[in-house]
Amino acid sequence: MIPRFKSALGWPECFAALRPSRADRVEQFERAFADELGVAHAVAFAYGRTALWAMLKALGIEDAEVIIPAYTCVVVAHATVESGNRPVFVDITERDFNMDFDLLADAFSERTRMVIPTHLFGYPMDTDRVAEIVQDAEKRYGHRIWVLQDCAHSFDAAIEGRRVCLAGDAALFAFNIAKYMTSIGGGMITTGDAELADKLRDCREAHCRRPPWYKPWERRAYCLAAMAAFSSLGYGLTWGLEHGTSLLDSEVKYYNDKTIELPNDFLRLMTPVEAAVGCVQLRRLRQFEARRRAIARRYHEALADVSHLAMPPLQEGATYSHFIALLAAGIRRGEYVSFMARRGVDIGCVIQYSVPHMAAYEKLLGPPAHPVARKASERIINLPISAVLSDRAVDRVRAAVREYDGRSLA
Ligand SMILES: Cc1ncc(COP(=O)(O)O)c(C=O)c1O
Repeated sequence: MIPRFKSALGWPECFAALRPSRADRVEQFERAFADELGVAHAVAFAYGRTALWAMLKALGIEDAEVIIPAYTCVVVAHATVESGNRPVFVDITERDFNMDFDLLADAFSERTRMVIPTHLFGYPMDTDRVAEIVQDAEKRYGHRIWVLQDCAHSFDAAIEGRRVCLAGDAALFAFNIAKYMTSIGGGMITTGDAELADKLRDCREAHCRRPPWYKPWERRAYCLAAMAAFSSLGYGLTWGLEHGTSLLDSEVKYYNDKTIELPNDFLRLMTPVEAAVGCVQLRRLRQFEARRRAIARRYHEALADVSHLAMPPLQEGATYSHFIALLAAGIRRGEYVSFMARRGVDIGCVIQYSVPHMAAYEKLLGPPAHPVARKASERIINLPISAVLSDRAVDRVRAAVREYDGRSLA
């Protein structure tokens, strides 16, 4: 089975995880991460959602509105609510699955204190245009509005040669196992603003606990288990367990439609084990991104004309955290996934929800009006992509997609 995603964890990461961990590893990871992305400061947290929560707390933003896309990872909305704020959802465009600029311009109110431009699936948003819209709103309402770039899918994504993570006030990163650079778990805020970095560190000190003694061992075990689960031999079993049993539910199902909550340990510090793995992965970041871009081109070359899939165009500077397409109307996604699974191809459906349409958010904010996010959530599929996917595997995926197309045309 060709996995829909596969972290590029290898023996160097395992050795790094197993070595006795030094307390200053986290600081080392922060320094290396900031240097790699060309920014002055980086502050590490246990999760990306913790980093966002801390950013809002550190700035004293409370009982305010935070503008986020309707189509994003639900934990962004959860962290916003749990910090004592209210998300304002903006619908997306089908062009790049990011916020629609016209709708963004209309989303501000006198209570808006932060905007989170999200470069979803690695497609960069035009950060200059966001800055213009935010400046207009600042003039209109007479107060500062912070801009946090969500780069969890787009570490090095660039627009006209400029990295999106350098725009605005700060950028948010996430390193869970599904991300294309992982530290097994963890998140980071980068910023060029020394005062903000100090506030984030103070906030971390005030709220985040030292992890319990067993946590580093749990993280090591997780790293080894992930390597085994994604290995060529192990993935068939992983897939079988995921689809045939509930044993992996706690790993795979990271949200519940009806509740807004953060994990019990979200206010712990990043462990040195995670930071050590992150340091090793960071050295390979550029290689990971180059391979993803090559795979995206390979899919595009062969599949741009298939009738059952609509793909966003290839985009200069995109990082392809996922290779996405929308299924044509009338195709049942479950049947498509099963068809491809029978050909040994694991198809993902990320992101399979529109956040304002989730029961918990409908209850909090009322009926949603985000039709494009809804459509994307219902029709999206992800073709397998990872830095360690071979050309042969990509060709097998292309052949399976073409076979389906031939069948649906017949
Ligand atoms: C777009 C986006 N932003 C933020 C996050 C938060 O990351 P974490 O899972 O580390 O909390 C994620 C997580 O998957 C994400 O996909």
